[in-house]
Amino acid sequence: DKKITIAIDGFSSTGKSTLAKQLAKKLNYIYVDTGAMYRAVTLYALQNGFVTKGHVNEHALIANLPNVTLKFFFNTNLAHSEVYLNGVNVEGHIRTMEISNLVSKIATIHDVRLKLVEQQRFMGKDKGVVMDGRDIGTVVFPDAELKLFMTSGANVRAQRRYDELLAQGHDVTYNEVLKNIEERDDIDTHREDSPLRKADDAIEIDNSDLTIEEQFDKILQLVKKVL
Ligand code: C5P
Repeated sequence: DKKITIAIDGFSSTGKSTLAKQLAKKLNYIYVDTGAMYRAVTLYALQNGFVTKGHVNEHALIANLPNVTLKFFFNTNLAHSEVYLNGVNVEGHIRTMEISNLVSKIATIHDVRLKLVEQQRFMGKDKGVVMDGRDIGTVVFPDAELKLFMTSGANVRAQRRYDELLAQGHDVTYNEVLKNIEERDDIDTHREDSPLRKADDAIEIDNSDLTIEEQFDKILQLVKKVL
């Protein structure tokens, strides 16, 4: 069986991870949530006092990057992924508003990106991987056989993320969520290192008016063409 690399990029809360997990389960591939890696490094910076009043001590964080070890666990049957920071499962601690409000700043740091991109390439070296993020089709795997670029209206995205956070028991308001999504998209598209953009050969999927099932069916057709 031919194994391919599927790169999924796009704006915040466009349903990338939902789609990526569905695909990984269906194809029996590995799923890598690269956003979780940037979130885990952000948690590390917070836990170690490298953030004061929203200001990141980049020098201290960079000096300590060798002490950051990330590991992944993906249960294919349950389509469930977990990220471990220095041996501790932090999956339940990286989706807070505190982390969401800081992660895009951390993701602008060149040394952080170098480290994470290297690990991402290693995890995908044997193909048979679905990876989602902001720079997968442009930087991490420019040769991916299938590249998707996801979009949907900001209000649709904010509502989805808001519902998801409420369901996870977070205490947030819709406006907070919308503001965070807009801010992250702004930072992610305008940063110098690996800005979020559609790769020339990526297929754009606007899912504003698609159900999760409709989207999955549509993408499966695209996958079948490449396989
Ligand atoms: O995917 P998620 O929304 O969890 O990503 C959180 C943040 O991590 C993004 O807003 C972006 O700043 C950063 N990120 C990135 N490159 C990736 C994945 C995520 O810069 N490949």
